[in-house]
Amino acid sequence: MMKGLKKWRFPAMLAALALVLSGCGEEYLSTLRPAGEVGQEQFNLLILTSLIMLLVIIVVVVIYVAALFKFRRSKLGEDHMPDDVEGSHKLEFIWTAVPILLLLIIAIPTVYYTYKLGDVSAMEKTNDDGDPEHLVVDVTAKLYWWEFEYPEYGIVTAQELVVPTGEKVFFNLKAADVKHSFWIPAIGGKMDTNVDNLNKFYLVFDKESKDLKDGVFYGKCAELCGPSHALMDFKVKTLNRDDFDNWVASMKDTENQVADKDSADAGEAAFAQSCIGCHATSAVGASGAAGPNMATFGDRNRVAGYLDHSKENIVNWIQDPQKYKPGNLMPAFDSLSDEDLDAIADYLLGLKVEE
Ligand code: CUA
Repeated sequence: MMKGLKKWRFPAMLAALALVLSGCGEEYLSTLRPAGEVGQEQFNLLILTSLIMLLVIIVVVVIYVAALFKFRRSKLGEDHMPDDVEGSHKLEFIWTAVPILLLLIIAIPTVYYTYKLGDVSAMEKTNDDGDPEHLVVDVTAKLYWWEFEYPEYGIVTAQELVVPTGEKVFFNLKAADVKHSFWIPAIGGKMDTNVDNLNKFYLVFDKESKDLKDGVFYGKCAELCGPSHALMDFKVKTLNRDDFDNWVASMKDTENQVADKDSADAGEAAFAQSCIGCHATSAVGASGAAGPNMATFGDRNRVAGYLDHSKENIVNWIQDPQKYKPGNLMPAFDSLSDEDLDAIADYLLGLKVEE
């Protein structure tokens, strides 16, 4: 019985692995399903190096197994003595030249793309009117959330990055407290955000995110930054240029966001009393706030970057933020009445700029 089971141990393990790993292929999250020029170029490098590695492994294994069988004692006899050779110029040449060749095949495209993808000179370019030619987003990573400022438009948002499709978007990356790392797996490789310098790179978003599950790409913090590092998620909405321009226009007008529920008025008042010191509700402004900007909160996909976007989660979060993101800087507002909490949640859910 045990023997019969043992026979299936390896195939069962493979099947379990396949099942677990198949979860890694989601379009909104996977490096292996690139959705932009940068991600595609990096993916191609990944495939090239993996193929060459695979080729080396196959050749080595084949030679090894062939030698094992060909030179077995049972085949050659007990008294067989191998030829006494002092060396082989032919073999030495092959095992020196082939690795050099393989490394060259890997090195040339790697160096080329390292320089190409690191080239941010176009960032400063302006058109005839003096406007920047490319969109630049200033990203600030904080414990444990993300701030996105669009200096050209004088607007700021948090937790959900909004970008146009089909063009280079440049990023200035920095951190406000400790080192984090900005990563949108489906769009391109990660880059650190540091406290003492600006890191710059560009990404291209080729696919509108509305077709995806939840309508967004997933972004992550990729540098161990504290107890809530794994919860430091953000989302990315990619819109075509026209929709993006409309979004910018409505973001400039968030002073007058109207919530349509009655309790939202009470919520606005309660929010003004307890929350506004850290959380702005107008998108017009610059980065540097103590807490995430709330201007588009009603349009977002998550509470605190990763919880389901529900009223219940907003209330729970306000009452005890440490329970959901240990180590974050928001104190608990457990003295607020149930009515106030309810009203604040209604008010926040009403803060929208999208239809
Ligand atoms: Cu921020 Cu990990």
